Amino acid sequence: MPFQQVPSLKQPPRFGEGKQYWINTFGCQMNEHDSEVMAALVENLGYRPASDPQEAELVIINTCAVRKKPEDKVASMLGKLGALKQEKDDLIIAVGGCMTQQEDLAAYIKNRFRQVDLVFGTHALPRLPELLDRARREKNTIVDIEEDYSGREGLPAHRASIFHAWLPVIYGCNNFCAYCVVPYVRGRERSRNFEEIVSEASGLAQKGYREITLLGQNVNSYGHDLPGKPKFASLLAELDRIEGLSRIRFMTSHPKDLSAELIDTVARGKKICEHFHLPAQSGSNRILDKMNRRYTREQYLDLARQINEAIPGVSITSDIIVGFPGETEEDFAATLDLLEQVRFDSAFAFIYSPRRGTKAEKYTDRSTYEEKEKRLQALNKIQQRISLEENERLVGSALELLVEGPSKSNPELQTGRARNNKLVHFPGPANLTGRLIQVRITEARTWNLFGEREGEPY
Ligand code: 5AD
Ligand code: SF4
Repeated sequence: MPFQQVPSLKQPPRFGEGKQYWINTFGCQMNEHDSEVMAALVENLGYRPASDPQEAELVIINTCAVRKKPEDKVASMLGKLGALKQEKDDLIIAVGGCMTQQEDLAAYIKNRFRQVDLVFGTHALPRLPELLDRARREKNTIVDIEEDYSGREGLPAHRASIFHAWLPVIYGCNNFCAYCVVPYVRGRERSRNFEEIVSEASGLAQKGYREITLLGQNVNSYGHDLPGKPKFASLLAELDRIEGLSRIRFMTSHPKDLSAELIDTVARGKKICEHFHLPAQSGSNRILDKMNRRYTREQYLDLARQINEAIPGVSITSDIIVGFPGETEEDFAATLDLLEQVRFDSAFAFIYSPRRGTKAEKYTDRSTYEEKEKRLQALNKIQQRISLEENERLVGSALELLVEGPSKSNPELQTGRARNNKLVHFPGPANLTGRLIQVRITEARTWNLFGEREGEPY
């Protein structure tokens, strides 16, 4: 008797056949990669990418909860989608990502935006096909914000780039910095299996990817939850041996966990790029302590010194929070002084945004938003001067670029990224995308550099 196939509940029919999808992504690189996984999952249901959200039969919003601003944008987007849904009855609207992993926000979206068919948290990604299947058949809004970590391994991804790939190595965060919602919405740290990562990276190299970026909220704590406790430095060293791959990046590093061994591995690695995204958050010990960052200003400065000494041409970038509750003029001055001492290549500064359920939400905060805005502007002004000065030091030097495509502001120029993560524009033909070339830097600006091509692509 022939073997009878039982249709699996996990694989719904290809109900997306002949239909189009649109995904809108907010927030960090982890979210961008999650959206690539969502894209592959819905394409397996038959959906094809739409070139315009108006034409899509499925719209997914992948939300970010780290600050209030992106949350507000989601609310306004959902309002607009409500109007579209009135014209288009068969439109499915799904909201996923960090915002929805919080019970109160999931309930808010469900109740306030009746047009939403599905609310799925960060852990529901593997269940997206079944959830969409239910959403198209049931009238009520489906909500899945279970804290069930299973099923994440082995999911497909439809990568946005053909030469650069995001590669998560650790999910979640255990650090509970006092201001941060991430540990609540992404759960506890789960490292991916060492061999699994190496084999995925090899597979990507075989498919022609030149660059991978290893992702984690705190990549330095990779492995502590795995048998044998492999170190992040060992993972990097192993990946450095993969043939075909040209560059390996990683983010984000936490100053409290960044080891001398890792600095040494980056210094020795052939493919490991000379760039650390090492958020300082503040330069005041009092504030660092209140933030629960678990390092001091002195330790941070020492780490930056070690990195600079060990790795010629390295760039260090940072995140800074301005206006954390209780931040005085003196604390703020200590942060400005840290910027001057470290001389970051760039720093993203954010005004503190209170987040539900975090420790800092309950801290008293006497300064006004206007004061915080003033501080942010003052900080940005100083950092922009430093960024420009650091870029000017590169004029005349040769850098290797991985070409990303035509420049967004001037299509006659091509844009590439140097190993130190700087963007460089240069005159050149459009067929260099995804290739490596050498440029000589001719001009520096605050956010980018200009150069002239030297030699042939490789
Ligand atoms: N308010 C402002 N900025 C925040 N970040 C994280 N949480 C908050 C918050 N509540 C910033 C930190 C972090 C970056 C990703 O976002 O600087 O490094
Ligand atoms: Fe948030 Fe701190 Fe974890 Fe980074 S390390 S995700 S800032 S809790």
